[in-house]
Amino acid sequence: MGIQITPSVLNADLSRLADEVARIGSADWVHVDVMDNHFVPNLTFGPSMLESLASHTDLPLDAHLMIDDPDSNALAYVEAGCGSVTFHVEAARAPVRLAREIRGHGARAAMALRPATPIEPYEELLAELDMVLVMTVEPGFGGQKFLDLCLPKIRTARRLIEKHGGETWLQVDGGVSLETIERCAEAGADVFVAGSAVYSADDPDRMVAELRTMAEEAAR
Ligand code: DX5
Ligand code: ZN
Repeated sequence: MGIQITPSVLNADLSRLADEVARIGSADWVHVDVMDNHFVPNLTFGPSMLESLASHTDLPLDAHLMIDDPDSNALAYVEAGCGSVTFHVEAARAPVRLAREIRGHGARAAMALRPATPIEPYEELLAELDMVLVMTVEPGFGGQKFLDLCLPKIRTARRLIEKHGGETWLQVDGGVSLETIERCAEAGADVFVAGSAVYSADDPDRMVAELRTMAEEAAR
C-alpha cells in the first residue's frame, strides 16, 4: 500500500468541518477522534456527526474510538459510513469478536495501544486486524509532544507484522510532524496521523504532501 497520510481534524475549525476536510484533498483518509469523556478526559463526536461528514467528502473516514465499551458502540461507526474503525485494546472486552464484527460489517478493523501498552501479548491477534495504531502521545488531546519512548514498540510491531505476512498496516498517532515523521517511518510505521501539524499550516494540503515525501524518503 505504501505510505499513507491521515490528517486528524481534532484541531481543525470544527464549526466548519466539511470545509476543513476539503482543504486536505490529497490525504488518504480523514482521521476522526471519537472521545467519550470516560476513556479519555475529552469529548468530541458521535456517529451522527460522522455520518453527516461522510456525506460531505469523498475521502474515507478513519474513526479512532477513544471510548469505554467499544464492544457495544463500534458498529454504529461502521454504519455511519467509516471505512476503518479503531478500538483501544485497553477498553475492549473481547477484541477478537469485536474485530470480526467490524470486518463482518464491511469496514477495516484496527486496534490501538496507549503508550504504556505493549504489543507482544497481542501478536496472535494480528491476523484479525487490518491495522495496528501505536499511540505516540497519551490519547485525549491534539498538540502534545511526540513520545520517543514509543519508537521501540513501533519497531517491535513492524517485526511482528512482517512475521505474520506483512498485510497489517502500522499507524502512528500523536505529535507527528516534519520534526518526528522520519523517526516513525524508519521504525516501520506506514500510516501517519497528523493533526496540529496539518491544521496549523498555512496550506494544509501542502503539509500533507511534505509529510508524505519525508516519510517515503525515510522508509526507503
Ligand atoms: C490524540 C488523538 C490524535 C490527535 C493528533 O488523542 O488521537 O489523533 O488529534 O493530533 P496531533 O498531531 O496534534 O498530536
Ligand atoms: Zn487519533
